[in-house]
Amino acid sequence: MPADAQPIDLSGRELSTRIAELAPWFHNIDLNGTPTAPDHFLGNYPADKFARFSQIFPADLTGKSVLDIGCNAGFYSVEALRRGASRVVGIDSDDRYLEQGRLATQALGFTGVEFRNLSVYDVAQLGERFDLVIFMGVLYHLRHPLLALDLIREHVAGDAMLFQTMQQGAREVDDVPEDHPFFEPGTYQPPAYFDSPGYPKMHFIERKFSGDWTNWWAPNTAASMAMLRAAGFSVEDRADGDVYFCRVAPVPFGDYGPAAVYPSKGVNS
Ligand SMILES: C[S@@+](CC[C@H](N)C(=O)[O-])C[C@H]1O[C@@H](n2cnc3c(N)ncnc32)[C@H](O)[C@@H]1O
Repeated sequence: MPADAQPIDLSGRELSTRIAELAPWFHNIDLNGTPTAPDHFLGNYPADKFARFSQIFPADLTGKSVLDIGCNAGFYSVEALRRGASRVVGIDSDDRYLEQGRLATQALGFTGVEFRNLSVYDVAQLGERFDLVIFMGVLYHLRHPLLALDLIREHVAGDAMLFQTMQQGAREVDDVPEDHPFFEPGTYQPPAYFDSPGYPKMHFIERKFSGDWTNWWAPNTAASMAMLRAAGFSVEDRADGDVYFCRVAPVPFGDYGPAAVYPSKGVNS
């Protein structure tokens, strides 16, 4: 806790009541000795996950602005505040999670954090670029994952992005050709690269994944990296198999026009 942080004055019983009122929690956060989700199905989540990739989380965020997209109860927002971030905005599409984030940061005594109900598809409304964007655990929940990355790159990414997604399939990463010949050279056979396990692949989940209908896509490692590059991010570091530290980079083929699209609505919709 930073020197100026003042925990809110909640007796242990009052805090426990408020935690229970906002249950279930997906983030197990230690609120001054009271855990929010002690029986989490993933164990001590996300603290255990964080321990496996914390070396690529910026150690010093003094004076930096941070946008935590899909912030849930704010575990990573709190980590950014602990590292000195002066402004943290957490957005999520679920009001109950945002309330959890407010309670957690208040209980821990953090100021300088704002929680807003906003979809990743609407980040343009923020009208601001952030030094660090945290985009963890959301991409596979989206029906339009590359659009989300394009919108983040176009509107809110100022310098760095910490990215994570559920992945399935091969972990090896093929070097993709700059151009893809239609046939194997000298033949009329289709080229073999698409069948290689290390070629970028997105697995489309038509129905539920682990009982959850909000899971739509699971990239393999190569596809995570390729999509990040295609959206205009360079991958500088990786940890724990599915966490990527990226920097803003030129958007490939950006000279031909913007990558993100903004479908218009019909007059009756
Ligand atoms: C698996 S949780 C990940 C939470 C946290 N970022 C983490 O890595 O632990 C996914 C979160 O994304 C939020 N979410 C889902 N779709 C979203 C959207 N379109 N825009 C913003 N948040 C979204 C969910 O409400 C949920 O809090």
